Amino acid sequence: MNFFSSSTPGALPLPIADNFGRRIEYLRISLTDRCNLRCVYCMPEEGVPYEQLDNVLSFEEIARVARVLAGAGLKKIRLTGGEPLVRKGVADLAARLTATTGIGEVTLTTNGILLPREADALWAAGIRRINLSMDTLHADRFTQIARRPDFDRAWEGVEAALRVGFSPIKLNCVLMRGINDDEIADFARLTLDRPLSVRFLEYMPIGMVSPPEWRARYLSNEEALSRIRDAFPDLEAEEDDAASTSRNFRIPGAQGTVGLINPISHRFCDGCNRLRLTANGRLVPCLSDNYEYNLMTPLRAGCTDAEIITHVRAALTHKPLQSDFEGRLGRGGSLRIMAQIGG
Ligand code: 5AD
Ligand code: SF4
Repeated sequence: MNFFSSSTPGALPLPIADNFGRRIEYLRISLTDRCNLRCVYCMPEEGVPYEQLDNVLSFEEIARVARVLAGAGLKKIRLTGGEPLVRKGVADLAARLTATTGIGEVTLTTNGILLPREADALWAAGIRRINLSMDTLHADRFTQIARRPDFDRAWEGVEAALRVGFSPIKLNCVLMRGINDDEIADFARLTLDRPLSVRFLEYMPIGMVSPPEWRARYLSNEEALSRIRDAFPDLEAEEDDAASTSRNFRIPGAQGTVGLINPISHRFCDGCNRLRLTANGRLVPCLSDNYEYNLMTPLRAGCTDAEIITHVRAALTHKPLQSDFEGRLGRGGSLRIMAQIGG
């Protein structure tokens, strides 16, 4: 590229930003709305009707969107689901994405069930950071929360991640009062001799939860933190970078860290640099808002690369300044469940 390239036709577009000047550098891509679990906070027991496969973005289409956005400042991609690993060929897609100029990092969020089979290929594809969902350390409880008797398989996923050496390995635990909040100290203890970043997520009202049910289960991370301190009074705060969505702590001498993600009690929207792309090709600017922008139709109608950027900018004019989960709950709740948005 020469010095004048920014003013020549076909030059890199300006970085993509929203109405508030927040630059979009992080795209979360849901590869599928399908999942091999039925977590109570995510899905109804009977599941949801799955998207027809021809309405799901192909890896070709995903790689194209990533390449175009990388030309406009996108730096990081997270692959999510549903459960991303139920789709075949995820490691191949990951390898393409990590090889895309401008994309510095491709990460994965998984429930771990299929990780033992895929971990080596994902590592070879260039994935280094991985998030695993783990809401309980008790097999019977796992069966209640995930509605599948698969604790052992999920834990084998954690062990596979440790064996292959992903770093960091984040263990996401959604806290729900009366369901798993008695395990806070046990989760924190896992970090003593394992390089895990255990992170407690506040339960968000997404999907079909009723307002009273959500309020009864919601547990603030302030409460979680005080419970961790009860068990580990010498807990130390870590230095976090500005874009971090979690506040992190370490038990002195522990290999891993304990983090708190507070989407409800503390909003981290000021530094939000993210955009979501659903499996059926919708751009979702904010998890707390039902607005979505149909990118699928123009993509399949043969739009140009420049038009993709125009559509993304149009979607981003709807990105709110602040999240408002409770406001949405009052207005009838979310239209999509988490597996359809991708977390
Ligand atoms: N509240 C908080 N976290 C949730 N997740 C899924 N649904 C919810 C919810 N309602 C988590 C999953 C996974 C991540 C992508 O989001 O457990 O770790
Ligand atoms: Fe599947 Fe994740 Fe939803 Fe659980 S939370 S049902 S693992 S998509």
